[in-house]
Amino acid sequence: MENSNNSGRLEKKVALITGAGRGIGRSIAIKYAQQGADLFLCATRQETLRETEKLISKYEIKTELYPMDVRNRKGVEKMVQQSISTFGKIDILVNNAGIHRGGLFQDFKLKDFDDVMQVNVYGNFHVTQFVLKYMLERNSGKIINIASTAGKWPSYGQSPYNASKHALIGLTRCLALELGQQGITVNAICPGFVNTDMVNDSAKVYGISKEQIIEMVSQKTAMNKIIQPDEVADLAVYLASDDANSITGQSIVIDGGMVFV
Ligand SMILES: NC(=O)c1ccc[n+]([C@@H]2O[C@H](COP(=O)([O-])OP(=O)(O)OC[C@H]3O[C@@H](n4cnc5c(N)ncnc54)[C@H](OP(=O)(O)O)[C@@H]3O)[C@@H](O)[C@H]2O)c1
Repeated sequence: MENSNNSGRLEKKVALITGAGRGIGRSIAIKYAQQGADLFLCATRQETLRETEKLISKYEIKTELYPMDVRNRKGVEKMVQQSISTFGKIDILVNNAGIHRGGLFQDFKLKDFDDVMQVNVYGNFHVTQFVLKYMLERNSGKIINIASTAGKWPSYGQSPYNASKHALIGLTRCLALELGQQGITVNAICPGFVNTDMVNDSAKVYGISKEQIIEMVSQKTAMNKIIQPDEVADLAVYLASDDANSITGQSIVIDGGMVFV
């Protein structure tokens, strides 16, 4: 067994991470495991969760996998109860599960618009509401919403996704205001393009390959790069740690320098 706790920044903490089967959520799970947190991991599919589990198996932490759809409010309630019955508490909630649908506004089908809102906004609402109950009992908690730069400014061919991420930033700010005196911080991470499966969907809007969109987006950044999931995960470790105790209501951009505001 490798000693997981290179600095133990999240030792004795329990984190619930949604969308932990692939991409950014998986990287956050790995980094949290490295820092000693016990993990309750959700994604829609058991098989992707199992892959994540394999990657963290070398760390001396407890892990439970829970395949489920965050759109299902009753299912979310059961999931949170299960997490509490296994670990007794939730210190950190990472609302990461999200989907992207590309296209021009006039062409969007109601179903696609609805799917994006149901996962990215209502899913966040369900999970946060049930987890919050337990955080409020202990007057302690850290909530991290994975939003996007699409929640800060316009983005081409992404109107439902962009609207959903603006909504998430609004929720982040309002919740931070309501919970400021109850030991609970709420922040959003706003990545630019991150090298995950999701980029394929953006590439389709332009009718180009994943490699071509990565090149196109990189050229628009000061650092001539797109972001790796690990880099987002490092920020999620920081926001979950005691070092960030006084940071709340923020929506922090990590995009290699695309828009400076
Ligand atoms: N990639 C980017 O460029 C980028 C940029 C900014 C923000 N973000 C945001 O970062 C988050 C993660 O994105 P990603 O690129 O890592 O995505 P990804 O590679 O497509 O992975 C998405 C994860 O979310 C899970 N998921 C999707 N719908 C779900 C649902 N209804 N219920 C529960 N889990 C669900 C998936 O489950 P399965 O594994 O079972 O499929 C998967 O594990 C999203 O909120 C996204 O909007 C991404």
